[in-house]
Amino acid sequence: MRIVLFGPPGSGKGTQASLLKDKFGAAHISTGDTLREAVRNQTEVGLKAKSYMEKGELVPDQVVIAIAKEKLASVGDRGFILDGFPRTIAQAEALDVALAEIEKPLDAVVNLQVDDGELVRRLGGRRVCPGCGEPYHVDTKKPQVEGKCDKCGGDLVHRADDQAEAIRNRLKVYNFQTAPVLGYYESKGILKNIEAVGDIAEIQKTIAEALAQA
Ligand code: AP5
Repeated sequence: MRIVLFGPPGSGKGTQASLLKDKFGAAHISTGDTLREAVRNQTEVGLKAKSYMEKGELVPDQVVIAIAKEKLASVGDRGFILDGFPRTIAQAEALDVALAEIEKPLDAVVNLQVDDGELVRRLGGRRVCPGCGEPYHVDTKKPQVEGKCDKCGGDLVHRADDQAEAIRNRLKVYNFQTAPVLGYYESKGILKNIEAVGDIAEIQKTIAEALAQA
């Protein structure tokens, strides 16, 4: 399985990637998680990325392309699930070149479709584990022990970019800079549109069915 999970902020990319990774044994590559780790560790990349991320802007292409290439190179023979990359046409083109070099073209791009009102509700109530990246929600996906990650026991946090103003900006950035990438993949015939509202397990089943036909 070599796929991109695509969709606006809060559409469930991280949630579905976590389930698909467990089911298919593929590597989960999240540029957002990698960037947040770099910010926490105050690396050179983290220092460059921090102000963009807090405002909900895209981090410059050359920074994220380098991250994605490094992660893909470490995947080995396993498949991969790209979560949050590519987000611009330049990133999509760079990904094609990198995958052609290692002879591992994409099987499918799964586009999770959710309306803006639901996205705002999901992001406003989201809590995440900074340790393993697992997402939760104060209403719809509560951890077993309040404030603690079910998977690794880490302390859950409210992301800085999940505040109202940053959420609004992220949705705007998605519509202007990222949504055009859908046309790029549609023209290649590998785009799978999925209605990503409702039960999380049911959505996962729909994705698995769509992938079986890819
Ligand atoms: P990133 O971390 O990738 O953020 P994002 O794309 O905005 O996506 P999110 O993580 O917010 O949402 P998600 O779709 O994963 O949803 P989730 O599963 O958590 O990127 C952060 C920042 O890094 C960017 O803004 C940018 O600055 C930078 N960046 C990253 N990649 C970049 C790139 N390629 N280029 C440039 N910059 C880049 O779910 C959300 C919530 O909804 C959770 O609480 C979950 O429990 C809940 N939920 C999920 N599914 C359902 C459901 N079916 N019903 C009800 N609730 C649900």
